[in-house]
Amino acid sequence: MRVGVIGGGQLARMMVPAAVGLGIDIAVLGEGPDASARLAVTAIGAAGDADAVLAFARDVDVLTFDHEHVPQPVLAALVEAGVAVRPGPGALAHAQDKLVLRRRMDELGVPQPVWAEVADEAQLAAFLDANGGRAVVKTPRGGYDGKGVRVVTAAAEAADWLADGPLLAEEVVDFRRELAQQVARRPSGEVVAWPLVETVQGGGVCREVIAPAPHSAGRIADIACDIAMTVAEALDVTGVLAVELFETVDARILVNELAMRPHNSGHWTIDGATTSQFEQHLRAVLDLPLGATGCRDPWSVMVNVLGGPEDGDLDSRVPGLLAEHPTAKLHLYGKAPRPGRKIGHVTVTGDDLDDLVFQARAASARLSGTA
Ligand SMILES: Nc1ncnc2c1ncn2[C@@H]1O[C@H](COP(=O)(O)OP(=O)(O)OP(=O)(O)O)[C@@H](O)[C@H]1O
Ligand SMILES: [Mg+2]
Repeated sequence: MRVGVIGGGQLARMMVPAAVGLGIDIAVLGEGPDASARLAVTAIGAAGDADAVLAFARDVDVLTFDHEHVPQPVLAALVEAGVAVRPGPGALAHAQDKLVLRRRMDELGVPQPVWAEVADEAQLAAFLDANGGRAVVKTPRGGYDGKGVRVVTAAAEAADWLADGPLLAEEVVDFRRELAQQVARRPSGEVVAWPLVETVQGGGVCREVIAPAPHSAGRIADIACDIAMTVAEALDVTGVLAVELFETVDARILVNELAMRPHNSGHWTIDGATTSQFEQHLRAVLDLPLGATGCRDPWSVMVNVLGGPEDGDLDSRVPGLLAEHPTAKLHLYGKAPRPGRKIGHVTVTGDDLDDLVFQARAASARLSGTA
C-alpha cells in the first residue's frame, strides 16, 4: 500500500518512521526540496496547484494531509478523479473554516463559546456590546499558531481584517486550562480515543502538553471523549481528529477548534502511548485495524522547541542535551531556527510529574536558548 501526503511539514516527517514500521510506502508532495519531510518527498508542488496535486495522487492508494490548506475545488477534483481522499472534503471543511465549524457544532448541540459571524464594524460593535466589551476575533480561514486570532475591545481594531471578508467573533472564554482530545476513526467506522491531555499555549502557540490531563479522571474526560466521538462520527472524519477544548472556570467543556490530522497535542504519543498518532493516522486512512491507545507510563510531558538558539547553531547544542537528559526523547524537524518557529519537541515519560515537567522544560531550553 502507498499513502500520499500533501504537505511536507513535520507531521508528514513524523509519519515516515510509522510507515516504515507498518511496511507501507509513503510519498510526500512537498513545498520544496528542503521540506521537513524531505526524506519522503517524491514530488514538489503547492497544495493549491490542482495539476500538481492530481499528478501526485495518481500513484497513491490513499491521499492524506500534513495540513488543512488544500482548497475545496482541488479536493473536489481529486474525488472526481476517483482518489481515496481521507479525511474527505466534507469533513475537512470544518477544519478549514472556523465559521463552518461553529455552525455545525451548534447544529450538533456540541458546547462551544458564544459566537457570531460579523461582516462589518457595526456587527462587531453589537457583539462587543452584548459580550462585556471584549471579543476574540478570528479570520475564518488560513490561521495557525495564533496568526489570525486577535482580542479586541473596539470594532475598529479589526477593520483591516473585515476589509477581506466576514470574521468569526467569540466571547473571551474564561478558561481554567486548555485541553485536547484526540480520536482516530476508520472509514469502516471503528473509533478509538487517547487519554485527554492538557495543552499550554503561549502567544497563541502550543508550548507544552501533559498526558493524561491532571485531575481529569471521570466526568471531564467522559465529556471530552463524548464530544470527540460525536464530532468524528457526525462529520465522517477518517484519520486522526484532534479537538481543542477549553475547560472553563465554571467547569464546562467548550470546543475551540478541530484538526483532522496528527496534531501538536498528540506528539507525546510517539514515546508515551502504545500507538502513536502518526502510526494510527496511517492505519486509519488505510482502513487497517486501529492500535491500542493507552499510556506506557503514568505521565508524559512534551515541550516544544520554539525558535532555536539565537546564533542559529542548533547542531552544536544537541550533544549537550543528549548528555544531560538521557531519558528525554528528542524529535527535531530538520527546520532552520527562526523566532517562534516550531523546530522540534522533547518528550519525557515516567512517574513523577513535577520532575518530568522540569526535565522536559530544561531539555527543550537547551535548544531554544532560553535556559
Ligand atoms: N474564544 C476564546 N477565548 C479565549 N481564548 C481563546 C479563544 N479562542 C482562542 N483563544 C486562545 O488563542 C489560541 C489560538 O486560537 P485558535 O486555536 O483558534 O487559533 P489557531 O491559530 O487556529 O491555532 P492553532 O495553532 O491551534 O492552529 C487558543 O489556543 C487559546 O489559547
Ligand atoms: Mg488552535
